[in-house]
Amino acid sequence: MEPARRLCYLQALGIEVYRLRSRASANSTEEQPVESVCLEPQQGDFSQPLPKTDNWDRLQQYVKSCQKCSLAASRTQTVFGTGNPTASWMVIGEAPGADEDRQGEPFVGRAGQLLDEILWAAGHPRETVYIANILKCRPPKNRDPRPEEVTACRPYLLEQIKLVQPELILCVGRIAAQQLLQVDTPIGKLRGSVHAFEAIPGQSIPVIVTYHPAYLLRSPGEKRKVWQDIKLARQQH
Ligand code: URA
Ligand code: SF4
Repeated sequence: MEPARRLCYLQALGIEVYRLRSRASANSTEEQPVESVCLEPQQGDFSQPLPKTDNWDRLQQYVKSCQKCSLAASRTQTVFGTGNPTASWMVIGEAPGADEDRQGEPFVGRAGQLLDEILWAAGHPRETVYIANILKCRPPKNRDPRPEEVTACRPYLLEQIKLVQPELILCVGRIAAQQLLQVDTPIGKLRGSVHAFEAIPGQSIPVIVTYHPAYLLRSPGEKRKVWQDIKLARQQH
């Protein structure tokens, strides 16, 4: 990407040019993490094993016909996930919205466009990452996922993580972060440190939490914090 277009993406994130200059200097203290790093392994939930799903096609078929929770009745279609099956970054969001329910792909609405810009600026453009949601079906009127829906859908996400084996998981939004890590810590406290997730016992994947792009559309002043989170993510991988 040409520098001008990259600058445009960075400006969309609210990043000022002086940051670009400081990033260019190798020993810049700007690049050092200001945040503490806490590694608390988060064990995956293996209480509900799926039938053998050792490949993407079978997993996708299970999801497509899934009736495990009541969202099956109101969805237009399932939104499985998309992207590079051997990605080094995996992005996890909350649930499909209206656009995603219509198109069958995660993050295709306005929030998705901002996510694309964030990923581009991070050096991990959309087509290089794998994107999935906690829930594969849209909750009516975009209400929060219910605990029984998250529990029912969780095995699919775990299988996706096991198949991709990413080097880093980027959780966007409070719900994605709290549900993946199975904590109820506020997002302001979850971001700024490195968490860990074990989809496969003994194989710890670093997890970075940041704000949801839909929240950034409402609160553009928070973009700066997202860039801090992206820098922390880049230090992991
Ligand atoms: N918000 C999400 O969390 N996921 C999507 O796929 C779209 C919007
Ligand atoms: Fe199945 Fe998940 Fe959709 Fe519920 S949200 S019906 S568990 S795919």
